[in-house]
Amino acid sequence: MTIPEIDFPSSDSDFIKDPYPLMKDLREMSPIVLDKTTDLQLVTRFDGVKNIQTSKNFSSSPPNDLEGSESSIIDPKEYEYFWKTEEFSLLNLEGQLHGDLRNLVAKAFSNRQVQELRPFMENKSSSLLEGLKGEEFDLLKDYAQPYSISVIGKLLGVPEDMYERFLDWSNKIVKMYDLKVSDEDSTDAENAAKEFYEYTLSLIDQKVNTPGDDMITRLANVTENDQKLTKDQIICTVILLLNAGHEATVNTIGNSIVTLANNNIDTLNLDKKYNIKNIIEELIRFDSPLQFFQRWVLDDDYVGGVELKKHSKVAILLGSANRDADSFAEPDQINFKRSNLSHTSFGGGVHFCLGAHLARLELEVSFNNLFSNSILLKSQPERTGAFGIRGYKEIEVKI
Ligand code: HEM
Repeated sequence: MTIPEIDFPSSDSDFIKDPYPLMKDLREMSPIVLDKTTDLQLVTRFDGVKNIQTSKNFSSSPPNDLEGSESSIIDPKEYEYFWKTEEFSLLNLEGQLHGDLRNLVAKAFSNRQVQELRPFMENKSSSLLEGLKGEEFDLLKDYAQPYSISVIGKLLGVPEDMYERFLDWSNKIVKMYDLKVSDEDSTDAENAAKEFYEYTLSLIDQKVNTPGDDMITRLANVTENDQKLTKDQIICTVILLLNAGHEATVNTIGNSIVTLANNNIDTLNLDKKYNIKNIIEELIRFDSPLQFFQRWVLDDDYVGGVELKKHSKVAILLGSANRDADSFAEPDQINFKRSNLSHTSFGGGVHFCLGAHLARLELEVSFNNLFSNSILLKSQPERTGAFGIRGYKEIEVKI
């Protein structure tokens, strides 16, 4: 079966506004379509996405025997510091090194340690919302961002007066993860990565000298089979936890509240009407904050009967997979009683989201608090314009 070729409109504002109708057409057209602009094979259906997430034949890092420009995720010479913050990112590693590093990080990030943050989250969420009641405010800037950065900052052990800087660095760096990146954005990302790298290095040194009850201290001390994380590995992990954790959680809060408003679902006591865990999973399924991830094909393979060539690249479309009618009944409807909750938004296989337990708790605490109110959308919010990290510029609400 030949792969249909398309021009995937990843920066078209109408598409970004609502990408789901086109993605439905693509799913119906073929399990794989080729985007002519990026030369990426887009995986459109749930089965194909799951298959790739869990198969050893698809790699997040370039194959060892691949040469030329395609053999690197980023050019370390051009983006020295961005590379230094990415080199040991779990997202880009495979095999033994990925497994060893992931085990060490997971040991410093247990469910018990996450649950201990619940009282802190509850306090933060309530105090932020208390100050906003009756006012018109931006749900992202005034609530979701300060909430999420405080939680991740507290977890990591970052001083509070550095939260703003961390946010700014993170916002600039994550622009590098989109399908197309402008020169200006990549220069900003490189500068932010340099400052981020240098600051985090000094913070690790501080924690080594004066240990705290926080994750950077744990990352600096954790051992398994006599292995320890190096400083560069800790820096990459801290930056990944912040970038992966913060952006996706903030955008899930924003996307969810807009989804509820646009589907005329009153938020007041929603968590009393349905199981909060089902509400969270359904909202993450419906409008995934992370829309795609890329993989290299290690050896010739077939997905949905379509041949994928060795060393070519695929992008798995998580948001599209979550709307696949072969896996989810009436996928374009919100249904808090859905029996199938296994969406693709947290990934799958060896790269399954390492912070899913934290994200779910952050969302539960936030929604429990937000749902003690009716939330009014004051205007229809505008999307950021990015396809990969799906969110809004601002969300004007009143509670
Ligand atoms: C709603 C919020 C979140 C969503 C939707 C989400 C989604 C994802 C997805 C899809 C992946 C897999 C990427 C791939 O297949 O290459 C992933 C990986 C990861 N996530 Fe999350 N994430 C969220 C929150 C968090 C939080 C709060 C943290 C930690 C503070 C976190 C840390 C990570 C890490 C470390 C990985 C890399 C795992 C690996 O490659 O082994 N995430 N996340």
